[in-house]
Amino acid sequence: MKGIVLAGGRGTRMYPSTLTTSKQLLAVYDKPMIYHPLSVLMLAGIREILVISTPESIVALRALLKDGAHLGLDITYAVQDEPRGIAESFVIGADHIGDSPVALILGDNVFHGAGFPKILRTARDELDGCTLFGYPVSDPERYGIGETDAQGNLVSLEEKPLKPRSDNAITGLYFYESDVVEIARDLTPSERGELEITDVNQVYLKNGRARLIRLGRGHTWLDAGTHESLLDASQYVHVIEKRQGVRVACVEEIALRMGYIDADHCYELGTRMRNSEYGQYLMQVAQTIA
Ligand code: TTP
Repeated sequence: MKGIVLAGGRGTRMYPSTLTTSKQLLAVYDKPMIYHPLSVLMLAGIREILVISTPESIVALRALLKDGAHLGLDITYAVQDEPRGIAESFVIGADHIGDSPVALILGDNVFHGAGFPKILRTARDELDGCTLFGYPVSDPERYGIGETDAQGNLVSLEEKPLKPRSDNAITGLYFYESDVVEIARDLTPSERGELEITDVNQVYLKNGRARLIRLGRGHTWLDAGTHESLLDASQYVHVIEKRQGVRVACVEEIALRMGYIDADHCYELGTRMRNSEYGQYLMQVAQTIA
């Protein structure tokens, strides 16, 4: 399976903080936001990852993540000139996807929870059409909402419904088979001129090829797209890290635990940042696992 992190957009809700920098480079407590979606793809066992962003932000993202080799990944980059919709990812990423299934994750989404890596890998292995991930929210009228039958098959999808049929918000993580490229190419842009991900999902729903995995109460899903939600995400990460002594979305540690890099290399990555607690943590994790 290939991966795409969509990390463009204007970030207008976070102006002026995002006037000159990408939202996805802002820190969620102790690390850049993009480490979160990147770590989700890594935990799903995905190593070939395309990062899509604006012409301005792609430079800084590339400087941060490079070609991914230091994490045992193969990271490439593509530009989205204008935020023409989430589903444009599949048109921009058509060559990257090729004949493979693909996981798309939005650059400002934070997932955390016990057993999440296993859920990801099972979803990847059992993919048949499209798999969405639902999360119970208290204000479903603000989200895309999915309703499922007892087998987890999606039976309805509604955008910001006035009278929601379920509280399952559709999160910014989507798994598709490679036919998503053709589906995205055939879409008509919406009134706001975007290729809408909901329209892609509606095609799979109509064909009976859409599943929704409901992430339960033991999971956390946040999108860090406003100042308040970024602060919430930072506080969440801070509390977990302080209390448990482990780091959330530490991509170097994930690379080590997934066997993408060895302990010596992880230690070396830590020494480059040894003045920070993050760097010291990497050195310590590498010594524990070595
Ligand atoms: P949004 O939060 O909907 O948009 P935004 O990031 O431009 O922010 P704002 O609403 O404050 O102006 O986007 C969700 C994620 O998807 C975010 O990580 C940016 C990304 N995105 C793109 O990269 N390209 C797009 O065309 C769209 C719609 C979103």
